[in-house]
Amino acid sequence: MGLHRHSNELLPERRVISGEHGSRVVRRGRRFGRVTRQKFSLWVFLLAALFLLYMVVFGLKLLFHGKLEGNVSVSQEGSVSVSQERSVLISQGRSVSVSQEVQQDLLASSVRKPPGSKHRKQHFPCEVALAESVDYIVEPWEFMNFSLFSLQYIDQEENPSQNILFEPKFGGHQTLFEREQSFYAKNQTLHCGFIKGPPGYPNTGFDLDENDKAYMRTCKVAVSSCIFGSSDFLRRPTSKRISEYSKKNVCFVMFVDKQTLSKLSLEGHVPDGGGNIGLWRIVIVSNFPYEDMRRTGKVPKFLSHRLFPLSRYSIWLDSKMRLNTDPMLIIEHFLWRTKSEYAISNHYDRHCVWEEVLQNKRLNKYNHTAIDEQFNFYQSDGLKKFDPSDPNTPLPSYVPEGSFIVRAHTPMSNLFSCLWFNEVDRFTSRDQLSFAYTYLKLKRMNPDRPFYLNMFKDCERRALAKLFRHRAALSPPSAT
Ligand SMILES: *[C@@H]1O[C@H](CO)[C@@H](O)[C@H](O)[C@H]1NC(C)=O
Ligand SMILES: *[C@@H]1O[C@H](CO)[C@@H](O)[C@H](O)[C@H]1NC(C)=O
Ligand SMILES: *[C@@H]1O[C@H](CO)[C@@H](O)[C@H](O)[C@H]1NC(C)=O
Repeated sequence: MGLHRHSNELLPERRVISGEHGSRVVRRGRRFGRVTRQKFSLWVFLLAALFLLYMVVFGLKLLFHGKLEGNVSVSQEGSVSVSQERSVLISQGRSVSVSQEVQQDLLASSVRKPPGSKHRKQHFPCEVALAESVDYIVEPWEFMNFSLFSLQYIDQEENPSQNILFEPKFGGHQTLFEREQSFYAKNQTLHCGFIKGPPGYPNTGFDLDENDKAYMRTCKVAVSSCIFGSSDFLRRPTSKRISEYSKKNVCFVMFVDKQTLSKLSLEGHVPDGGGNIGLWRIVIVSNFPYEDMRRTGKVPKFLSHRLFPLSRYSIWLDSKMRLNTDPMLIIEHFLWRTKSEYAISNHYDRHCVWEEVLQNKRLNKYNHTAIDEQFNFYQSDGLKKFDPSDPNTPLPSYVPEGSFIVRAHTPMSNLFSCLWFNEVDRFTSRDQLSFAYTYLKLKRMNPDRPFYLNMFKDCERRALAKLFRHRAALSPPSAT
């Protein structure tokens, strides 16, 4: 069980590793994820025995080529799980060039558990003390007395200098001055996606059907997710865990592109007459605003207050997860009870943006120059390292695990969402890199206007939704 969960967690990270080593790890990892611990040790033991035999027959000499550093598990992923690491060892073990260390590790692991190290963390769900039933929860009446101001969004941008090269952009053309001003929590009109060009210019994208838009305007509480480019299977929320109340009053919207929908249909997920598959209402997005599908995926992820303009709450979950908790219970627990307006989990491993930058480069998640540009900009604007020993650190971690976000659509929360989205639009699409900076800057620029952010534990996130791997066959092209 533990092994299974863990390999689920790691595989998404590994998905974009380029080169054959990466895909081999994924394959092996997947196969081994299903094996129970017991069977696993048996395997390890058997292989170890085979190795002993091998050594006796061919002598040790042959085996001294490789180096552990060359091992995929160590060089490509900082936090390799026990299962992953061992499965890599096994896969290496089948090939001829096995290092001495690998062997020793293999032998050792057949007789005792490998010593704990930071590379061998496992991640489990932990208990979340949810209310027993939606019948017992009430929205606290004083809940909505958060900072009040009014946000309007730029809807259209002119071509100021009649530049013939002007190209309208979904995120608009925000100047650095406008960016700076947008951080003030006050009545303002700011960039927040969905920006059209002057009349006569092409549409900037994220086009939706009018019927779907009308439906989304009716939502008071929205749970949403997206699958673009067939990157994932469809995971329907666990119906028996969702109350009748929520089935009736909460909108469950899955944004997909046409290609994904045809693929899902081939797999038997065909929308019914009302456009639903299970609890999900399928909403087709056409005309992607960005070439990079991951960046396009940030539109529904961050901008739920724009997509569901009259909703008061929203929950975002990545499509690698199956929701198995009632959304109203989630809102009660993570927002109402803690008097928060925004809740997101921290990362299971990393707490400092410096580590996150290294990790992104190590895994080649993104163009390194672009990462450096963003990170240098943030440092020059005051981003400091996370200091776990500081009792006044404003957040329990500077790196979020952003696959699950719970939001009240208050002005401050909406502002934060827009600001974070604008960072992803301006810089890299790696949103973990911009989270802490955006939060800290918002806080710094509005000392009298608190933003009530609840950064909860990753193990709680795991209790709310079940993690799966992404569809492995289709690694999207690496982003540039
Ligand atoms: C809401 O108002 C109460 C009473 O004025 C105050 O004690 C509380 O801190 C406020 N909560 C927020 C989130 O501003
Ligand atoms: C901000 O907008 C609200 C509502 O639109 C208005 O009532 C309020 O007076 C405005 N505040 C300022 C400082 O302009
Ligand atoms: C990487 O990013 C830099 C700066 O944004 C850009 O100039 C360069 O063309 C990018 N490289 C690739 C391969 O896209």
